[in-house]
Parts: sequence; C-alpha cells; structure tokens
Amino acid sequence: MAKGKKYRSSEWFGGADKDGFAHRSWMKNQGRPDDQFDGRPVIGICNTWSELTPCNGHFRDLAERVKRGIYEAGGFPLEFPVMSLGETNLRPTAMLYRNLASMDVEESIRANPLDGVVLLVGCDKTTPALLMGAASCDVPAIAVSGGPMLNGRYRGEQIGSGTHVWKFSEDVKAGNMTMDEFMDAESGMSRSIGHCMTMGTASTMANMVEALGMGLPSNAAIPAADARRFTLAHIAGRRIVEMVRDDVRMSNILTREAFENAVRVNGAIGGSTNAVIHLIALAGRVGIDLNLDDWDRLGKDVPTIVDLMPSGRFLMEDYYYAGGQPAVIRALGEAGLLNKDAITVSGQTIWENCKEAANFDGEVIRDFKKPLTESGGIAVLRGNLCPDGAVLKPSAATLELMQHRGRAVVFENIEHYKERIDDPDLDIDETCVMVLKNCGPRGYPGMAEVGNMGLPSKILAKGITDMVRISDARMSGTAYGTVVLHVAPEAAAGGALALVQDGDMIELDVAGRRLNLEVSEDELERRRQAWSAPEPSMRGGYQQLYVDHVLQADKGCDMDFLVGNRGAAVPRESH
Ligand code: FES
Repeated sequence: MAKGKKYRSSEWFGGADKDGFAHRSWMKNQGRPDDQFDGRPVIGICNTWSELTPCNGHFRDLAERVKRGIYEAGGFPLEFPVMSLGETNLRPTAMLYRNLASMDVEESIRANPLDGVVLLVGCDKTTPALLMGAASCDVPAIAVSGGPMLNGRYRGEQIGSGTHVWKFSEDVKAGNMTMDEFMDAESGMSRSIGHCMTMGTASTMANMVEALGMGLPSNAAIPAADARRFTLAHIAGRRIVEMVRDDVRMSNILTREAFENAVRVNGAIGGSTNAVIHLIALAGRVGIDLNLDDWDRLGKDVPTIVDLMPSGRFLMEDYYYAGGQPAVIRALGEAGLLNKDAITVSGQTIWENCKEAANFDGEVIRDFKKPLTESGGIAVLRGNLCPDGAVLKPSAATLELMQHRGRAVVFENIEHYKERIDDPDLDIDETCVMVLKNCGPRGYPGMAEVGNMGLPSKILAKGITDMVRISDARMSGTAYGTVVLHVAPEAAAGGALALVQDGDMIELDVAGRRLNLEVSEDELERRRQAWSAPEPSMRGGYQQLYVDHVLQADKGCDMDFLVGNRGAAVPRESH
C-alpha cells in the first residue's frame, strides 16, 4: 500500500482491540491469511449474478477474473451479492425495482468495510441501479458490463434480441409465419451467454457506462463469450486498486461534461429512450441537474452513425469488430461533439483513450456524412398533452408519421388494450392515434415497457407496420415505431393524458417538438373535475413506498428521498 495512507477498511480490520479481533476472526473462517488485513485496499465486487437474470448468468466467472486483477495489484477482493433485476422474468416490470436495487447497493457499500467497488452489470436495470447506488456513496468505482450475446441466427438470417420477437410475433399475427417456425427461432435468438445483442437498453447502458467514463474502453461491445471480456474484467480489477490509492471517486468522473458526452454518444449509437430516464436519475444522485431539454439540445445535431437493430441492420458483435465505442468517440471528437477532457476510470481522458481508435467497418459504424439518421438523439415534445415533456426516438420512427394529425383511439390501461385491440368492431384505421393510459411510474406501477403496443391484426394484415402511439409508458430499447413515450405528468397522476377520449384529435409535430390534444381548455377542465385517480394495485410494502415517492419520468423516476448527495461513504479526510 502507499505509505502513510489509511483506508476506510482499516476502521474494521486495523484495530488491535476486541472489535478488530472480531472483524478479522470471522472473515478468517473463509481461509484468509493474516496479510489480507494489513491495511491494503479492500475492494467490493458488487455482483448481480442470478440464474433468474439470464443476461447476468455468467457473472460468477466474471467476478473471478476481477479478483485476479485485484490480487495482482495488491488489493483484497470481497464479492457480495445485490438484488438482481432480470428484465424478462420480473413482474410487473423490472423498472419497479431499479430504485430498490440501488438502495441495496448503496447500503451494502456504506455498511461494509469497502474502499472501492467493481460493479458487475448487464441486464437493463442492473446497470443504472448499481451506478446510482454506488454514486450515492461516492466511492471509487468501475463498472464492468457482462457483454452482449453473440449475434442471433435463424435460418441463415441474423436475428436480434427483442427486435425479432416483435417482428416475428407480428408476422404470426399477419399470417406470414407459422407457430412452429416461431417456436424454432427461440433458441437461435439467445445462443450464448450475455445480454440482448441489439442496441436495446442493456447495450445502450453499457455504452453509457463507457461514455460516462465509468467503464474501460471497449466495455460496451466485447461479446460476453469473447475471451477479451474476461481480460477487460481482469484489468478492471487491477485498475480499481490504483483508483483507491489515488482516491479517484465517482464524483470526479461523473461530471456535467461526462453526462453531455453520454447524451451525444446515445444519439450517435441510436440508443434506447430508457437511457433518458436512467441518466437523469444517475445525475440526480451526484447533484447534477440533467434535464429533458439537455437531451434534446445536445442530441439534436448528432447523427446516428451506428447501424444496429432496432434502428438499423447489424448487431453488437458486428459493432465490436467494427471498432466499438472508441471508434464512435473518435468520430464525435473529430466532429467537435465531445468534451475531450472528461476523465475516465482508465486514468486518462476520454479523448486520450480513443483518439487513435480505428473504424474497421464503415457499414456498421458509418461516416457522419452518410449517417443512418441525420438527427439522432431523442426528440423531446411539449404541448397541452405533455406539459412536462414526452420523448420520441426519431431513428426508430417512420419519417412520414413524424408529422401527423389523427383521431384518438383510447385504451384506459394495458388490460383494456388487450381486450380491445383485436376486436373486429374496434373503430380504428392506420390514420388513428393509439393512446394508452395508466402505464406510467405510479400507474402501472413501475412504468412498463408497453408503449410500443402492437397494432391491431386487421391493420397488420394490410401490410401496415407502424402507427402513431402515445403513452406514459416506456418502450423496450429493442423496439421501434413512431411511439411517443414517457408522457409527463402521467395519467395516474392526473396528467392531461388521463383526459383523452376516443375521437379527440391529436397533432404530433416532431420537427416542431409539439404534441397537442385539440380539445378546448374548458372541456378539459370539465373532464378533469369528473376524473378520479385509479386505485393502486397494492397497498403497503415496497410498492406503496414506490408509488408514494416515485418522481415522474422527466425527473428520472427516482424516489424523491434518494435524490441528491447524502455524503460519501468514504470521507475524503480518512485518506
Ligand atoms: Fe436482459 Fe435484454 S433481457 S438485456
């Protein structure tokens, strides 16, 4: 250890008294030699491994690689489990538990003899949950993503996680795919360890980790099954020990400049709308006011250059072979769209990490002059239907529908949608605007990914694959369509969305950033007086805590009592 430095863990392991005896003795029941307690940095490996989170199912191996690096650098690794959030299994939605998992992470770090942490993250919500929890303690930390699955393959075709589930299920509904073929595609889609290999939320958040400077270069793209993923974990283990010695905290890395870089990278990669919510929440944990206007302003002039599903053609394995995020960072830097001095966990600036990065495949990572979409990023809409904002991902939308006026067909909640959508008598055609209520943070609860509600079979059968859809829900990062999401305030909080009725006219103008319900203020007031909030689905327990305290989507859906700085777990002066 560096001479004269005393780490926080010494308060547990350093004493020559009864307490020191107790702290060391019980740990020795795991066969730990005396010299592990000699004052060296103690590094927590915060593990979201779970067989119920298939995307993180390989994390015990990953943790072992991190440990090798920590031992080599003279640290003392201690792996610990935290709540794992598996997107595909958790009900009602994994998002309901993001904040709970972040509390688990924060309190586990605060309560234990840890000087720094490596965060093992993968499936969608595990990344923001661990970053948020660790940020609240302001410890030295590195995030290591688990990596994407290998590209899906089915009958000679590349198929992408999630994206092809939507496509195939619509093909079955439209009569273009048999049920046997549908079942057959299952194992071809998820054929290796790792998370979704489209540019869905997990891949987007792995990119955000790297863009924020919280992960090592190439963290986002190395496939889970590639040996280089283990190498990255090994190096992260070495590096976190150095970061503890140098006292490099999350607050040194998560600066406003870092968040601005991440927003721009999200535009360039065609990232998920979920990143908007997660980054706003993470910024809130370190006292940075990142808001929807920042997202619109910073992303507007960033073309989407990464041609990945759901917006484009390729998958994460291709992205890695093409150069991964370092190639994108270099392109952004050369275009003047990067805060080059933002510091990263590598110990270098983001520009120093990436300025020499090569692009090996101009089809996958395109040139700014030939982008996938001119204006990437996230469009933030305002109007009487969403006074606090709503978002739309232009790269996933249909150009012709981004300026549209249509008659509302309203679904009061997701059950109502399921009952009505394939009713042959439903009065709907492709010019209508589908409106879904009560799927926001409080309403669902947890803000489910149902905003890209499927089209009625009778419209799909005509070969039509997109319509304007509006809701207070989220959308899976693997999904696509002209879908207005995150309407705030949500219907269950009494937002104007709650007042929309069948037959109302709605105007969407993405270029003008407007979303308006063409109903007079007097009529809206009359409807407001007649409105009452829906009954919560559960009283008491965590769900009640969540519903009582969750903030709206424009504020990142964090709980009000978790926002802001609660003080570092490791006081600066203890070093
Ligand atoms: Fe885990 Fe997609 S389900 S990343």
